[in-house]
Parts: sequence; structure tokens; C-alpha cells
Amino acid sequence: MIKVGFVGAGSRAVGGHYPVVTALQREGALRLEAICDRDPERLELAGRRFEIGRRYADHRRMLDEADLDAVYVIMPPQFSLRIVLDCLEAGKHVLVEKPPATSAANLQTMADAARRNGRVTAVGFQRRYSPVAQEVRRRVAARGPVTMCLGEFHKYKLASNPPAPGASLLLDHIDHVIHAVDFVRYMCGGEPVETHILRDRFFADWTTCYSALIRFSSGAVGALLANCTSAGRVQRFEVHGKGIGAALEMPKGTGFVAKVWEGRSAPPQEVSGETLAGARETDATATRALHRSFLEAIETGGETPTSFEECLGTMRLVEALEGAA
Ligand SMILES: NC(=O)c1ccc[n+]([C@@H]2O[C@H](COP(=O)([O-])OP(=O)(O)OC[C@H]3O[C@@H](n4cnc5c(N)ncnc54)[C@H](O)[C@@H]3O)[C@@H](O)[C@H]2O)c1
Repeated sequence: MIKVGFVGAGSRAVGGHYPVVTALQREGALRLEAICDRDPERLELAGRRFEIGRRYADHRRMLDEADLDAVYVIMPPQFSLRIVLDCLEAGKHVLVEKPPATSAANLQTMADAARRNGRVTAVGFQRRYSPVAQEVRRRVAARGPVTMCLGEFHKYKLASNPPAPGASLLLDHIDHVIHAVDFVRYMCGGEPVETHILRDRFFADWTTCYSALIRFSSGAVGALLANCTSAGRVQRFEVHGKGIGAALEMPKGTGFVAKVWEGRSAPPQEVSGETLAGARETDATATRALHRSFLEAIETGGETPTSFEECLGTMRLVEALEGAA
């Protein structure tokens, strides 16, 4: 039984992770032992909801006093670096939310600390864990390498505030564009080696639109279109290989659904969580799969597909898209 502590009791911890953690707790996979938040009201609310007696305002005290194997650090990256490093140095395995850090250099520091201490890490890029995405990746790979992946994220953000100071649209914690960046890189494989980018400030004095073509070290080409002056919330991807193409969409609040074309004239095949044997309907957004992978890696001494080390390429791509690399 893996003993877990939470640092950060905000909306993602309570609304996203807590339901999954309670389900895994019922299955005997983990036990939530302690919770920490510097905001007393949030701590009290989450503590009551999680039914956790061990509550802390300071993560260092939690690390000293609670008997933990792993810590989930669920907060925006501008607050998390010190906490993540303290947890790793205290010998805890660490799961963080996206974005994993405010820069590739900080994520490198986190990955180095994890390696030095032999700890398992995971980043909440849960779209990669989706059974539909896994199936598309498997089918394309069976025919050869991925040649192209298109990622699109469109929404309307002009009415809300611009990204927090120091954060861009890609690193702002309320935005999900970084999921699209990560997914394109994951499907293409390797690291970005050449990028052509248009950054636009349509209707605002901050970057609202990114249009990019990226050559990856795998040879694949990624295309990313992110437009936050549009309407609704559209997230879709295309993945192409030899004699195969797939279009994936993620309607708000659900998991991926895909159409897969194989061969010359066959009609597309629909792939969804429900059509895949063994896929759990209740895990449409793949958050449970992320947790399971983290817990299994701790038990087996393995690695997760979204370790700090692995996600460095995504942070480098973010920096290239921002023009900082
Ligand atoms: N993977 C996903 O799909 C997904 C979805 C939603 C949010 N997120 C990510 O989750 C992260 C958290 O989002 P949120 O909406 O819960 O944020 P939030 O601001 O609501 O919550 C963060 C919490 O951390 C606490 N905190 C900050 N510094 C602290 C410290 N030093 N010690 C103890 N507590 C501290 C704050 O008091 C707050 O309660 C963000 O990075 C966001 O991008 C990911």
C-alpha cells in the first residue's frame, strides 16, 4: 500500500485528483495520509472532504512528521519548485501537475534531483495515457514511423485576464494549450530540432495565437495551431503514418474519440474508450491511468511515460515556441 500526501488543495486537487484517489484507495492501491495547503480555509475544506486528520500548512513539517512514500504536488509551477526538490531530497516519489516547471532549466534541476535520489516522477500530461491515443499510436507504429502530427487548441480567452505575470499562454496554469504541445511531441517522438513559428497578438497586447511547424529528431513534422481569440473550446489532433491516418477529438469534459483510416478506400473506423476492450468508461480523461502508472512504477522500480526527464523535451519545445530557446 503506497502512502501518499498532497501539497496543494486547490480546484485541481479537489475536483480532479481527489475522486481518482478515493477510488484507488477503495481498491487498496494507495492510502492518502496527509494534506498540506498554506491557505487555512482550503486546507480545512479539503481535509474535511478527504477525511484526513493530518493537515499541514508547511510541506516541510508534513515531510518530517507524516509517513509517506509519495507526494502529489498540485499547484501552478511558480510555487512548486522548492516543494518538489524538498520532497525528492526527503526520499519521496513525486507527481506534479502540468506545466511541470516554469522553465526547462528548472525541470532539469527537478529531473537531476529525482535521478540522484532514485525516485519515480510523473507529470499530469494525462492525454498521453488515453487508451484511444495509445491505440492510434500502436496502429500507426505497426505500419512505420509517424510522419506528421497536427495539434489544434482553440478557445475564447479575451474576456478573462491575460496570463499571470511571468507566464505565457503556454505556461499559464488555467490554460491547456501545453497539453496540445506535449501531445504533438509525444506522437512525433524525439526532440524538436527545427521550428518555424508565427506568434500573433490578435485583439490583445499578449500572444494569443501560435502557428508553428516543428521538425522532430525522429524525422516527423509537427504542426501546432493554438488560437485563444476564437470561440468555444476545440481540441483536436491528426496523426499520419504509412497508409494510415487518424483524427482525434476531445470534446470538453470527455476523453478522446478517433476516426482511423487504414489502407486505400476503407471507411474510417471509430475508436473510443467504450469501443476498446478493457478501457474504463469512468476514466475518459485518463487521470486514473496516470495515477496507476505512477503507483506501478513505484512498486516495480520502473519509470512513468511522463517522467520529469521525459517531459524536458516538451518544456524545450514550449521555450522554442515562446522564442526563448
Ligand atoms: N492535467 C490537467 O488537465 C489539469 C487540469 C486543471 C488544472 N491543472 C493544473 O493543476 C495545477 C493546480 O491548479 P489549481 O486550479 O488547483 O490551482 P489553485 O491555485 O486553485 O490551487 C493551488 C493550491 O496550492 C496552494 N499552495 C500554493 N503554494 C503553496 C505552498 N508553498 N505550500 C502549500 N500550499 C501551497 C494554494 O494555496 C492553492 O490552494 C495547475 O498547474 C493547473 O495547470 C491540470
